[in-house]
Amino acid sequence: MMPGRFIAFEGGEGAGKSTQARLLAEALRAQGRCVAVTREPGGTPGAEAIRALLLAPPGAKDGRAGWTPEAEALLFAAARADHVAHLIRPTLARGEWVICDRFVDSSRAYQGGAGGLGDEAILALHQFGSGGLRPDLVILLEADEALAAERLRARDGDTSDAIGGRGLAYHRAVAARFRRLAEDDPQGFAIIDGTGSPAAVHARVMAALAPLLEARAP
Ligand code: TYD
Repeated sequence: MMPGRFIAFEGGEGAGKSTQARLLAEALRAQGRCVAVTREPGGTPGAEAIRALLLAPPGAKDGRAGWTPEAEALLFAAARADHVAHLIRPTLARGEWVICDRFVDSSRAYQGGAGGLGDEAILALHQFGSGGLRPDLVILLEADEALAAERLRARDGDTSDAIGGRGLAYHRAVAARFRRLAEDDPQGFAIIDGTGSPAAVHARVMAALAPLLEARAP
C-alpha cells in the first residue's frame, strides 16, 4: 500500500492554523480520502499529558521559574516521539493522510530560534526521538502581527499559555526563523499569506497542495 501524505501547518499564534487544518481535512475528505487531523504538542494521551506540563509549567504560578530552555525542548521532543510512534506513522502506514497543527518546525522556530538553542540541537533531538520524520509539505501561514494579535484576543481574551504569553521580541524571532526555514527549503515549505477570509486562505492552501494531489491519490 502507498503510504499516506503528511502535511503540517506552521506559523505563529493566531495565524489561523487550526481553521485551515480543518478546512483542508474537509476538502480532502470530500475527495474521498481518509484524513486524520492532529496537533502538537499533543495528539496522543501521552503527548497531551506532556502538553499540559509545557503550557502550564508546575510551579510557574508561584513565581518559580518554568522549564529551562533545554528541558522545554526535550519535553516537546518527547511529546513528538510519542505522537509520531503511536499516531502519525501508523496512520500514514495505513495509507491515510495526516494533517498536523504544528510539528518539528515549531520546535526549530521557538526553541531553536527564539529560545536560542540552535537548529542542530533540535534536529538531533528529532532524529533521536522521531527518526527525523519530515512532512511531505509544510504550510507556513503568515499573518501580520496586528491581525494575529486581534485573533488571539478574540480567542483567548487575557489568558495565554506559558509560551504564547512571551513578549513581542520572542514572537518576532519565531516569525523570522519560520521564514528563514521556509526560504532555505522551498521544496519542503509553502509560504502562504494568512490574511483575508478563511475561504480565501483555504484556496491558497489548496493551490499549494495541487502538485501533491496530482502526483498520486491515496
Ligand atoms: P498551540 O496550541 O498550537 O498554540 P496556538 O494555537 O496558539 O498556535 O501551541 C502551543 C504553544 O506551544 C504555542 O505557543 C507554540 C508552542 N510550541 C513550541 O514552542 N514548540 C513546539 O515544538 C510546538 C509544537 C509548540
